[in-house]
Amino acid sequence: MSAQGVPPLQNPVAAEIVVPAQTSAPAETPAQPEVPATAAVPTVTEEAPGAPDPAVDPATPAAPAEASAEAPTEAPAPEAPAGQAPAPEAPAADPNGEPAPVPAQPTEQPAEPVAAQAPAPAPEEAPAPVHLALVRDDEPQGEEPQADSADPAEEPRIPLGPPADGFAAAEREAVHRVMRERRDIRNGFRPDPIPHDVLLRVLEAAHTAPSVGHSQPWDFVVIRSAETRRTMHDLATRQRDAYAASLPKGRAKQFKEMKIEAILDTPVNIVVTADPTRGGRHTLGRHTQPQMAPYSSALAVENLWLAARAEGLGVGWVSFFDEREMVRELGLPEHLEVVAYLCVGYVDEFPGEPELMQAGWSKRRPLSWVVHEETYGRRALPGEDPHDLLAETLRGIRPLDAKALGEAWERQKRMTKPSGALGMLEIISAQLCGLSRKCPPPIPEPAAVAVFAGDHGVHAQGVTAWPQEVTSQMVTNFLGGGAVCNAFANQVGAEVCVVDVGVAGDLPARPGLLPRKIRPGTDDFTAGPAMTREEALRAVEVGIETARDLVTAGNKALLTGEMGIANTTVSAALISVFTGSDPGEVTGRGTGINDEMHARKIDVVRRALELHRPDPADPIGVLAAVGGLEHAALVGLILGAASLRTPVILDGVSAGAAALVARAIAPEALAACIAGHRSAEPGHVAALTKLGLRPLVDLDLRLGEGTGALLALPVVQSAARAMHEVATFDSAGVAEKG
Ligand SMILES: Cc1cc2nc3c(=O)[nH]c(=O)nc-3n(C[C@H](O)[C@H](O)[C@H](O)COP(=O)(O)O)c2cc1C
Repeated sequence: MSAQGVPPLQNPVAAEIVVPAQTSAPAETPAQPEVPATAAVPTVTEEAPGAPDPAVDPATPAAPAEASAEAPTEAPAPEAPAGQAPAPEAPAADPNGEPAPVPAQPTEQPAEPVAAQAPAPAPEEAPAPVHLALVRDDEPQGEEPQADSADPAEEPRIPLGPPADGFAAAEREAVHRVMRERRDIRNGFRPDPIPHDVLLRVLEAAHTAPSVGHSQPWDFVVIRSAETRRTMHDLATRQRDAYAASLPKGRAKQFKEMKIEAILDTPVNIVVTADPTRGGRHTLGRHTQPQMAPYSSALAVENLWLAARAEGLGVGWVSFFDEREMVRELGLPEHLEVVAYLCVGYVDEFPGEPELMQAGWSKRRPLSWVVHEETYGRRALPGEDPHDLLAETLRGIRPLDAKALGEAWERQKRMTKPSGALGMLEIISAQLCGLSRKCPPPIPEPAAVAVFAGDHGVHAQGVTAWPQEVTSQMVTNFLGGGAVCNAFANQVGAEVCVVDVGVAGDLPARPGLLPRKIRPGTDDFTAGPAMTREEALRAVEVGIETARDLVTAGNKALLTGEMGIANTTVSAALISVFTGSDPGEVTGRGTGINDEMHARKIDVVRRALELHRPDPADPIGVLAAVGGLEHAALVGLILGAASLRTPVILDGVSAGAAALVARAIAPEALAACIAGHRSAEPGHVAALTKLGLRPLVDLDLRLGEGTGALLALPVVQSAARAMHEVATFDSAGVAEKG
């Protein structure tokens, strides 16, 4: 709830706001905010935009030579053209007359390990590693030695001999190839029967899987009969329909196009079960973790999958089943668990990448995102120094692509409409082109709104009429689907993702809630800093991680949302710091407060700024002093989305405050930002003015939760769709203006 109760502005700003100054001028950069040359450059931007080698994955900074086997060459965004030549000087200038930023680095989407990628060249026989001189004779042979162990307590070790051999390079490559080229297949199966000896080899491979306590809990039920397969197909279809009904519209559309099973198309189906009672009462390793039985069976599935690939057999794993229903239908013993239902058969081809990626349903996460050194969060590939998430993210943030921008303006001139007739939408669609480096740009669908929730110590100062518990109560409401943001999200087909980054109370785990609490609310910033610098950074990281999750899950636009009773006080403080405005000008009435409370709120902001004297050149310091956890997470969301070249539709005053912080950290992050609406809160106007962003919707909303951004989503989607579907004068045979 970032709102106020003041009457709407009297002047017709709305009308002005949606009319672009010079939409028809090709020399115009979409909604490019003023990016001051003197933008505050905090320490965190030391490694920021511009520095890295264009060939280097921003998510994999400075990969050393030995990490090159993993050095991704492919962007997770399928639409991001790889290997694009550096763009020429931007043909455009921004509305403030400043030159449009020219992308210095053409291929900096965080990339991923590529399926078809060759491993790093390696000698036929691995030489004994140099560090063996430090290996003691009781060292387990073949164990990966510590190249640079710094533990002084560790005694030098004397080797007995070289470690056990690995495979020769060609064999190793075969092993890696089968893993890279394993595919989940659902299309293009052939009816050819599978010879017994082939199927036997595949089942042998499955049966050599590792298992907890060597319990070998699997069984393989080979199903060939058309009748049983039809029964299974019916069960899966029912579950598929139930799942489809649960999806937001933007996702459901995509899902409808996808095939999720090949039960009827394959000659053989294999049910892989787990018997949790097998292996005796004292199975080694299962004592505290009963789920080790199905885990072991899953390893058998993987072995089966890989061996099948080596035989040229495709495998499709179908999990659209109610497990107990399947056990009953198949007449399996009741104590068995079904781990996998696999469709197996020869195929026309093995696609180079997962079908879900091809369909735009999801993207692959780069390896560098998931490898942590020693402690969770210290990300580093072997041989690299650990890097922090923020620095890594900043390296990925680039300006709009000048070439795609130019193409957008050209295309718009040729579209069957008077030049500039789509007003602000032309600016938005060009921005989307520049951001995605594609013309026409991807249609920003599906989209997700990330609602970050947090509480504020400053609530104690009496700056709102609402009790603090409302934050957690509203989180429950979001998760139950009963808030305004849920209704709007349903209407526009977006997903609502709720992130607890700092709610004061405990929130029970629920589907849809991401538990990422940094601390249960901030401290009262009139008495001391709201949080520590480290906590502010961690909250920013929550936002970056959320952006990564939502984008790799296939979302093509992110929307900001927030919930935090008293957070308009925090927003006002941040806006005051970054715009230089007096607290009296930017502190509004939030959820609706009387004059007395409003005066107190202004005084609270003023006192906090006097106490901390926050330095806008140190944005993380500002967040720590007078920020909120949800504001910090929003900063991370903006930066994360910008680094993934994904548009972010900003909601109201808290998003505006966060965008100011993001801009102070990385001015080019604004290339990804679109102002969804103009809030009735005065600080929001000050923020938008400073950011140079024009809001798309102006309806006196003062709610927050992402509601204004959600209303703007169809406008942004329409802008992109027009670029795809509107004919040109030549193609439609329409005469141009004389
Ligand atoms: C545990 C598991 C269950 C799966 N269930 C389904 C399913 O029910 N329907 C489906 O279409 N794909 C299913 N898949 C396939 C995955 O969607 C697929 O593995 C993913 O797209 C990655 O593609 P790839 O296997 O070709 O790399 C499943 C995969 C796994 C590992």
